[in-house]
Amino acid sequence: MPPNLTIVDHPLIQHKLTILRSKDTPTAKFRQVLREVAFVLGCEVTKDLALGEVEIETPMERGMFPYLEGKKLCFVSILRAGNGLVDGLLDLVPSARVGHIGIARDHETLEAKQYYYKTPDELGARQVILVDPMLATGNTAIAAADALKENGGKRIKFLCLVAAPEGVEAFSAAHPDIAIITAALDRGLNEKSYIVPGLGDAGDRIYGTKD
Ligand code: URA
Repeated sequence: MPPNLTIVDHPLIQHKLTILRSKDTPTAKFRQVLREVAFVLGCEVTKDLALGEVEIETPMERGMFPYLEGKKLCFVSILRAGNGLVDGLLDLVPSARVGHIGIARDHETLEAKQYYYKTPDELGARQVILVDPMLATGNTAIAAADALKENGGKRIKFLCLVAAPEGVEAFSAAHPDIAIITAALDRGLNEKSYIVPGLGDAGDRIYGTKD
């Protein structure tokens, strides 16, 4: 296991991930549970945010108390499935900025092509959390991380729900400085580069675009 990989094995996440994996879980439930998982994963991915102090008054007395400092967080969703995770992350950090990167996987060549890029200003001053539920071949995540770095991103983490060993290896080789946080490391990829056992096409599961 590469040193930059963290598997979050919290029982709540593992339980909810089983619900997400089940092909019998309908769209509305899938969306809701994904949002809940994102909330818990968000706690893990933000656990080393820098804290400063602020002076406030409780109803009892005045004092200094912990407060997040600096430019804080930017979640960057890899379209479209990343949006499903970002919704839950925003429940946790409503003031976070959000960027979007559109990268389509050519189903023949499996190459990643960028068709959309929009991130907040001063990316370099923010902790960037790049988000995609599935780390399969790694091509999309690598291209998205390349784009973030080209646009000034410096402190970047990659958050996913299910990773394949092939994707972890490729991503770690391309971006050894970026920590990968996932809820599961699955067995591998099938001949169509879907993760097995996985949960199917995350975008289709979130948006109900395939019956
Ligand atoms: N993308 C998905 O949505 N699912 C996979 O299994 C692999 C890539």
